[in-house]
Amino acid sequence: MYKETVDFIRSIYQTKDFIPLHEPRFYGKEKEYVLDCIDSTFVSSVGKYVDNFEKKIAEYTGAKYAVACVNGTAALHMALIVCGVKRNDIVITQPLSFIATCNAIAYIGASHLFVDVDADTMGLSAEKLKAYLQENTVINADGFTYHKLTNQKISACVPMHTFGHPCKIDDLVVVCKQYNIALVEDAAESMGSYYKDKHTGTYGVCSAFSFNGNKTITCGGGGAIVTNDEALAKKTKHLTTQAKVPHRWEFVHDEIGYNYRMPNINAALMCAQLEQLNGFLENKRNTAFQYNSFFKDKEIKFVEEPPHSKSNYWLCAVLLKDKKTRDEFLHYTNDNGVMTRPVWALMNKLKMFKEALCGDLENAISIEDRLVNIPSSVIV
Ligand SMILES: Cc1ncc(COP(=O)(O)O)c(C=O)c1O
Repeated sequence: MYKETVDFIRSIYQTKDFIPLHEPRFYGKEKEYVLDCIDSTFVSSVGKYVDNFEKKIAEYTGAKYAVACVNGTAALHMALIVCGVKRNDIVITQPLSFIATCNAIAYIGASHLFVDVDADTMGLSAEKLKAYLQENTVINADGFTYHKLTNQKISACVPMHTFGHPCKIDDLVVVCKQYNIALVEDAAESMGSYYKDKHTGTYGVCSAFSFNGNKTITCGGGGAIVTNDEALAKKTKHLTTQAKVPHRWEFVHDEIGYNYRMPNINAALMCAQLEQLNGFLENKRNTAFQYNSFFKDKEIKFVEEPPHSKSNYWLCAVLLKDKKTRDEFLHYTNDNGVMTRPVWALMNKLKMFKEALCGDLENAISIEDRLVNIPSSVIV
């Protein structure tokens, strides 16, 4: 079965060489726009490409506003700040995520609370969240939710659209509303993914996207914060640009800001990548369908997009029977020049978050033991 899988992956990528997990593709106007940017000398935080990039991201996602950011981690950090998360608050997230989700929460000095994911979406479970909140929290006179055990305010909830598959975000909207908790979507992996015909990242108060080198579209390092709230968008732009009060020559800063604005030169790359996004998505979904039919009725299960969603299939994934077969699969594929990777270690196991509050994590544990990502680059 492992050999058959490697042969199949080689057949779709049509190569005998090493096959990486996810490679960027620069076949559009990247060089033209970057050269234009260099010629203009506007390579830093001001320029037409950054403005264009923001306009295009808003247009593409259907959000009212998008604010460019240096990377997805900074975008998430900023999203949490503008949503009002403060030191010692609790922020709920899923244990099955990339470290950046938890790091952004830690930068503020907030505490993590881990709630399980759904088995079918691999994203934060609204059902488990609701059960956890019902049992462990109270809504105080100020209208906010507090943890019964620690008395900390629960100020935000950060679900993640894992590998581009949308979580049940509309159910999470309902639960978070009921408990007055800001919903911040970690949409780092889900550019081009839709839940019930609405782009991921447009359900929460705001959301963060990543355009890191391993993502569906990339500018090396980059990110964006997306929101429908004008005041929030303005605040985000202000804070990501050192909180400088606009003036023709004076340097006045009215609070502690951040140097988080995406440089124009990166935005030039992003503008070219965005022009190719729909083609990339079609290509990646086609690869996913080929994987899906190959793995049909086999012992190794392909992870399909969840119901009611259209996934970007950023990273395709398979589920093995157990940890032992997962390890055998990892060994065989990597020994034979096909890059595969296990899912991240659960966040609650890392030494920095070992003391964090947790619900039951049954689904996350099962996925951690069995999931492997397989090559998912756009096929040229
Ligand atoms: C789930 C998740 N959140 C946040 C990030 C952070 O994005 P960046 O690498 O652009 O900082 C990433 C990816 O890199 C991610 O996969």
